Amino acid sequence: MRKLIIAIDGPSGVGKGTVARAIAAELGYRHVDSGAMYRAVGWKALQLGVRLDQEDTLSGLATDSTIEISATLVAIDGTDITRAIRTPEIDKAAAAVARLPNVRAILVGRQRRLGLDGGIVMEGRDIGTVVFPQADLKLYLDASVEERARRRASDSAHSGPVALAEVATALKARDQSDSTRAASPLYAAADAVVIDTTGTPVADVVAQVMALVKTLLIAE
Ligand code: DC
Repeated sequence: MRKLIIAIDGPSGVGKGTVARAIAAELGYRHVDSGAMYRAVGWKALQLGVRLDQEDTLSGLATDSTIEISATLVAIDGTDITRAIRTPEIDKAAAAVARLPNVRAILVGRQRRLGLDGGIVMEGRDIGTVVFPQADLKLYLDASVEERARRRASDSAHSGPVALAEVATALKARDQSDSTRAASPLYAAADAVVIDTTGTPVADVVAQVMALVKTLLIAE
């Protein structure tokens, strides 16, 4: 059976990771969180004291770094940064480096290589629009900002404020940056299936997506 490429895009805190992980596990596919790559570059820039608007230095840094992403680990140049990249400081640093076209070009190249043989569920902001415009299935998950703030505040992997109003303000700022930037802004591909997950349990979203996947596999 052909191994599909499944692209999942959507704003911060919408639950892309949870859904992508579940789908990948059901299908025996690889799950890749592309945002972790932007976070890794942002983390290294802060470590080295590189200003977040220095595109040439940052794209050199992205080129020269080894970034490892597995189901349980994110590492850059062999340093485990799995937890260190889930902080409000790195939220901001990642959004800043993600605005830079030359940094994006390098990371998009790496993301495409990961998908060469199919059998991948990749989540991000531009997966269905830029990274894999030929993806077999494109999903765009959305939810109200209140619901996304609740999900983010209860995510134990992510440190930071727990006051919902504060989390919602930070999410809105990042959405604004991700959707209005010139380079590959966040939007739903014309051929994406848009799912509003507000008030929908994760298991139901996963079931909806699996139904779509099965339709595709049966049609082969
Ligand atoms: O999904 P995330 O919050 O971990 O992503 C971190 C940042 O990187 C966020 O500002 C969006 C950006 N990003 C992107 O521009 N393109 C992607 N494919 C994935 C993430």
